[in-house]
Amino acid sequence: MALDKNIPAIEGGMPVRDNKVYYSHQDINDDDINAVVGVLKSNFLTTGPKITEMEQKICEITGAKYVVACSNGTAALHIACMAAGIKEGDEIITTPITFAASANCGLYCGATPVFADINPETYQIDPADVERKITDKTKAVIPVDFTGATVQLDEIREICDRHGLILIEDAAHSFGSKYKNKMVGSIADMTEFSFHAIKTVTGGEGGAVATNSKELYDKLMLYRTHGITRNPEFMGNESDGPWYYDMVDLAPNYRITDIQAALICSQMDRLDKFAERRHEIKKRYDAAFSKLPQLQIQKEIPETDSVRHLYIIRVKADKLKIDRKKFFEALAAENVMCNVNYIPVYYFSYYQKLGYKKGLCPNAESYYDEAISIPFYSALKDEDVEDVIAAVTKICEYYAL
Ligand SMILES: Cc1ncc(COP(=O)(O)O)c(C=O)c1O
Repeated sequence: MALDKNIPAIEGGMPVRDNKVYYSHQDINDDDINAVVGVLKSNFLTTGPKITEMEQKICEITGAKYVVACSNGTAALHIACMAAGIKEGDEIITTPITFAASANCGLYCGATPVFADINPETYQIDPADVERKITDKTKAVIPVDFTGATVQLDEIREICDRHGLILIEDAAHSFGSKYKNKMVGSIADMTEFSFHAIKTVTGGEGGAVATNSKELYDKLMLYRTHGITRNPEFMGNESDGPWYYDMVDLAPNYRITDIQAALICSQMDRLDKFAERRHEIKKRYDAAFSKLPQLQIQKEIPETDSVRHLYIIRVKADKLKIDRKKFFEALAAENVMCNVNYIPVYYFSYYQKLGYKKGLCPNAESYYDEAISIPFYSALKDEDVEDVIAAVTKICEYYAL
């Protein structure tokens, strides 16, 4: 008997497609490959000219005055916290719906991460809850432009200014996005970018901090590389000669290689193309999924013009016979491979051991119970997009309440 294509594969029906469509994939062309090979044939594998070129390009794209490239987005967040002077006894406020690094950067400096809840429609940190969570120990707010759409930057900036707090924007998802026509990277005191393998622009790994402050820039440069400087202006010791450098503070080695920087530079040349393709896919998904009452689609604030990094469907528990786990498994049976972004950070056992308890951020927790990130990347073909839509629709309709 032929398998029925209307019955989900997980129930013994025919899957929408034979081969897997993955949740994410890099978009690499011959220019990228040649850029990397060019570095391999050059004199510098690290601390060379490609790093300066990468920093200048990010300045041009974002409008930031200064950029410090580093090994990854986590390193970028850490040196941003160090440059902000965050230390033991301080608190930083961030969202639980993020990758662990957004909170861990506070822990690295001995500070305590405090979690503010999200808006249930945009899934972004809620400025009103940020304000409620401020204490006399709060030093910085680290909002995350979740999925690439920006947070309410004006509201958060105003709260930071009123309370004398540093604003470190975690823009790991939002390279190329705008807020009120201003590029992300030119707005916060410091903005962190990630060029991890699944980001819009990638170097495999890679990160950067953008700032308009010369003072912060000088500190970031120091903290990227061991707290070591060759600049006589910042040395604690008299120079012994042209070879001399001084270590004036304790910091890790967070340098990026020229190999990664070359790939990131080459990828940045196609940022507009990547953004256009991501916009197209988002539009197609929005049109299909807004017709399905079993799903909630993420809202973006009108001030944001987003280069989307993730596309999330929320499977509504009150409109479906199955829960998120079964929905996720049903998609995998249809050969649509998905992910969940994110597990609330304070659910992790490490955070639980530190004393964080479930129930802290109810909106974040109910979001987590329903969220699925579906395949979304610029290299996704039109037929893949249509297959993802067919699989999601089939599961929604079959299990509709
Ligand atoms: C929101 C967010 N912040 C920070 C990071 C850390 O970036 P990286 O992986 O480059 O260290 C990520 C990475 O995936 C992220 O998604």
